[in-house]
Amino acid sequence: MKILFVTSEIHPLVKTGGLGDVSHALPPALRQAGMDVRVLVPGYPGVMSRVSKASVVCTLEALAPIWSPARLLEAQLEESGVPLWVVDCPSLYDRPGGPYQAPDGNDWEDNALRFGFLCHVGAWLCNAPSPLSWRPDVVHCNDWQSGLIPALLRHRQPPPVPSVITIHNLAFQGNFDPLWVTRLGLPMESFHMQGLEFYGHLSFLKAGINYADRITTVSPRYAQEIQTPELGCGLDGLLRHRSADLVGILNGIDESWDPAHDPALPAAFDDRRLVAGKRRNKVLLQKDCGLTKDPDVPLLGLVSRLTYQKGIDLLLDALPALMAHPLQLALLGSGEAIMESRLREAARAYPGRMGVTLSFDEPLSHRIIAGCDLFLMPSRFEPCGLAQMYAMRYGTPPVVRETGGLADTVVDCTEEALREGKATGFSFRNAASEDLTAAVQRALAAYEDRKEWRQLQKTGMRRDFSWKRAASDYVGIYRALASPG
Ligand code: ADP
Ligand code: GLC
Repeated sequence: MKILFVTSEIHPLVKTGGLGDVSHALPPALRQAGMDVRVLVPGYPGVMSRVSKASVVCTLEALAPIWSPARLLEAQLEESGVPLWVVDCPSLYDRPGGPYQAPDGNDWEDNALRFGFLCHVGAWLCNAPSPLSWRPDVVHCNDWQSGLIPALLRHRQPPPVPSVITIHNLAFQGNFDPLWVTRLGLPMESFHMQGLEFYGHLSFLKAGINYADRITTVSPRYAQEIQTPELGCGLDGLLRHRSADLVGILNGIDESWDPAHDPALPAAFDDRRLVAGKRRNKVLLQKDCGLTKDPDVPLLGLVSRLTYQKGIDLLLDALPALMAHPLQLALLGSGEAIMESRLREAARAYPGRMGVTLSFDEPLSHRIIAGCDLFLMPSRFEPCGLAQMYAMRYGTPPVVRETGGLADTVVDCTEEALREGKATGFSFRNAASEDLTAAVQRALAAYEDRKEWRQLQKTGMRRDFSWKRAASDYVGIYRALASPG
């Protein structure tokens, strides 16, 4: 079966969060499961610089009237050899800054056009006029950036191929001025409540949810949560309406996240050579982060986008209570200016005990996840979350809020779960700094009991978070769509 996988990020070419990791790992897992999968991404500078040997598949003149010159290039993903199709359109993608935001932190003003074009190319590759011999059996869209594809396909009757959309985060919806409906070549007749319209705007994500044949999200718990007003971001009614076609498939983690073979780590370790290896990573991390060298003090880590979603303010509010305990913090993140400045201030208040790095730094993220004793993820909501799974894999029990994929992946360290050898971390119910503090206090108490702690670490390290299971669930969906009945 031929699958076109459309995404706006792919590690290591371009990544702002977990979508980059998923797009790096899921297509190869699908290929292993027998799928002929190709990945379509925009040609941002980070992508173009890595595909210098790409061949030109075709120009995109058929789409030219509204767009500037553009070509489709073909390269291959390193290691897996999965074909990568790149939309090379310099006027839209060749600029400094991130995939979605300018260097000043504001969204690119022409995002509707940038991702509208990606969607047109994706839909065109599924459609009859495409000059390519390869045509997908199913198109798999991810988040709002490819959300218009199902709508564009649906405007041809019958739609040339079925579509799946995966919601990685319902909070990002791609809502734009309605002027874009006609500018993007969409029929004005579909700009209504049961179509593309969302509170007077053109919504890319709503379009995807409305018109895709199947909707998936990245954990079973989040699939339930987004059907409630609390976490439905205004789309819960529509998601309830489509609940028969909605399923939660838990993300996996890539095999390259392995503390025994991670080039970013100063010392390799695994579940049998755990104590010395982690200790060495810890003291070197303390040095890196400007913390006082002390292999025995509990070291808490956090690696995160700094946004409301991630509950960073809960951690900041909990600091006075947490810092009353002998512990250190190593934090890495980038995002909202207000959180960055609060973190900077907090680090100044606790010299030698709180190290804050405000940037996006892949190798440091690995060293924090490996070198810490506990990993914090106090998210207000979390569709899946990958970092907590990386932490478990690296023998760093996570402290998480019981929501979304965090609830689906972390087993709270109750006496019973510990006795049954199932506990992997600590979770708390309410998005409140006192609850976070209480969970950290439980973790600190457990840390004192070396035997109990080792068991907790090893249970997490041995959990199977491979992509195989998820890939086989997606294949099941593709097959059902490609040969209905
Ligand atoms: P989300 O996609 O919501 O950001 P995930 O936990 O699914 O959350 O994925 C986040 C990914 O981004 C992880 O690989 C994490 O290590 C990485 N990450 C987040 N912030 C940073 C940062 N400042 N530097 C390096 N990696 C980061
Ligand atoms: C989103 C979510 C995160 C999820 C990731 C990959 O960024 O916020 O929870 O793990 O997508 O699916």
